Amino acid sequence: MHNKYHYEGPLPLGSVVAHNCAGAGLFVATHGEEVAWRLTGSEENGFYTLCIVGPNQQTKRFSSEATAEGRRIIGRDVLYYLREAQGFIRVGKWGSLVGVRPTKLFHKLWDETGKAGVAAQILRDRYDISLEKLSILQSITELQRPWVAVDEESDRRISVYGGIPFCESHCTYCSFPFGLVQQYNRLDEFVQAFVQDASQLAALQREFNLSVDSLYMGGGTPTSLNHEAFEKVVEALAMLRMEGKEFTVEAGRPDSVTPEKIDTMLRHGVNRMSINPQSMQDHILKAVGRAHTAGAVVDLYDYVREHTSLAINMDFIAGLPQQTMSDMQENIKFICRTMPENVTIHTLALKKGSPLYDMRETALLPEEGQVEEMVSYAGEYLRKIGYVPYYLYRQKYMTGQMENIGYTLPGYACEYNIRIMEERQTIVAVGPGSSSKWMRAPEFRQLQLHTPKDVSVYIDTLDTLLAKRRERCEQFWEA
Ligand SMILES: C[S@@+](CC[C@H](N)C(=O)[O-])C[C@H]1O[C@@H](n2cnc3c(N)ncnc32)[C@H](O)[C@@H]1O
Ligand code: SF4
Repeated sequence: MHNKYHYEGPLPLGSVVAHNCAGAGLFVATHGEEVAWRLTGSEENGFYTLCIVGPNQQTKRFSSEATAEGRRIIGRDVLYYLREAQGFIRVGKWGSLVGVRPTKLFHKLWDETGKAGVAAQILRDRYDISLEKLSILQSITELQRPWVAVDEESDRRISVYGGIPFCESHCTYCSFPFGLVQQYNRLDEFVQAFVQDASQLAALQREFNLSVDSLYMGGGTPTSLNHEAFEKVVEALAMLRMEGKEFTVEAGRPDSVTPEKIDTMLRHGVNRMSINPQSMQDHILKAVGRAHTAGAVVDLYDYVREHTSLAINMDFIAGLPQQTMSDMQENIKFICRTMPENVTIHTLALKKGSPLYDMRETALLPEEGQVEEMVSYAGEYLRKIGYVPYYLYRQKYMTGQMENIGYTLPGYACEYNIRIMEERQTIVAVGPGSSSKWMRAPEFRQLQLHTPKDVSVYIDTLDTLLAKRRERCEQFWEA
C-alpha cells in the first residue's frame, strides 16, 4: 500500500503535516515499514519550505511565511496535492478543513462576528467548504445555540462521562480502547475502583456545589458486564444524577442486554439508551464480527418500547464491508418503522488499530462514491420523515473524508453529545481511558486530566489519579 509517509523538519510544520496527511488518508510509517511519501521541511529567514517526494519519485515543493496563516496555507496546499496525487477529487466537500469539530469552529466565529451568516462566509473563504456542508453546519449550530450560551451559573455546571472499557467480542472496524470482559481476571477490583472513583466525584460535586447537566455511560459496552457488576457501576454513576437530567447508557449490542439490566437502568434513573444495529443485514454483521443478528435488534427495540419510556438512540455505519445502497435503504426503512428518538449515521473510519485495517484489501469495502451516496440518502430520508441534524464530528481516515451526523426527532437532542463536541462545559470522567476537561469562557479549555487506558494500571494508580483530580478541581473552582 502506498499510504505511508515519513516527515522530518521543524515541529510546528510537523503538526500541520500530520493533520493534512491524515486528511488525505496517509498514515505515519512506523519503524521498518515501507515509506511511499517523504516530506522534508525547513524554516529559514521567516519562511517554511516543504518538499514532498512521492512513490514514483515525483517531487513537489511548497513554501509559505513562517506564521500561523502561512502554516494554514501550506497545510491546504499539501492536502489538495496529496488528494489529487492519489486519484481523489482535489478539493472535497470539506475543502481544506481537516479538524474534528467544525461546528465548534462555527460557534467561535459566530461569537466573534455576532452573525451566523458571517461565520459561514468566513469558513467558505478560508477553507473552501461546499455550500452543502455549510448549510448543515449552520442548521446544527442554530439548534445547538442554547447549549453553548454561557451565563453566571455555567461555571459550576458539568457533565459526567463513565467509561466501561469492556466488550464481549471485537467488531473488526472498531479501535476504541477496550478488553474482552470474559478474559479480564480483575473484574471485581475494576468495579470497586469505578465505584470509588464515582464516589469521590460525588463528594467533589457536593463540596464545590456542582450541578450535573448530563450523564453518559459509554465504552466499550457497559452492558457486557455481568448483572451484578453492571448494577454496581450504574448505581455508582447514578450518585451524580440530578432530577430530570439526562442519563444515557450505551447498551449498544443487543446480545449484551437482558431484562434485568434494563430494570437496573430504570431503577437508577437512566432515561436514554443506545441500541446499535450498525446495519440491519446478518451477513454484514457477521462480516464485521458483531455477535448478534438484525432480529436481535428488533426484539430488543420492541421490548424496550413495550416496557419502558427510555429515549432510544441507534448508531449506523455507512461503508461497512459488503454494504450496498440497498442495504442502507433497508436500514432507513427500519428507522421509518421504529422511529427511535435519535439516529447517528457514522461513516466508516479505517483505523490502524482495528482488525479491518489489516483486512482492507479483501474485505469488500464499498467505494467512496457509493458510501457518499449512502450517507446523502440517509440524511435526506431522515429529514423527510421528521429528523433534524443536531451534532456533527469528523474523524481521521473516514471514507471520503466525510463526517458523522447525529439526527434527532425535534425536542430529543442528546445534551451530552452536544456538550462533548462543542467543548464549552466542564466534563469530568470516571473510569479508565477517559479524559476530564475543565472549561471556562472565553477560552473554554483550562485544565485536563487523562486516566490510563490499561485497566490494571487504572486500578493500581487510582489513589494518585483521584488526588490529581481533587487538585484540578481546587485549582479551577477555588482560584
Ligand atoms: C464507542 S462505540 C460503542 C458502541 C457499542 N459498544 C456498540 O457496539 O454498539 C460508538 C459507535 O462508534 C461507531 N464506530 C466505532 N468504530 C467506528 C469506525 N471505525 N468507523 C465509524 N464508526 C465507528 C459505531 O457506530 C459505534 O456504535
Ligand atoms: S463497536 Fe462497540 S461492541 Fe464493537 S468492539 Fe467497538 S465498542 Fe466493542
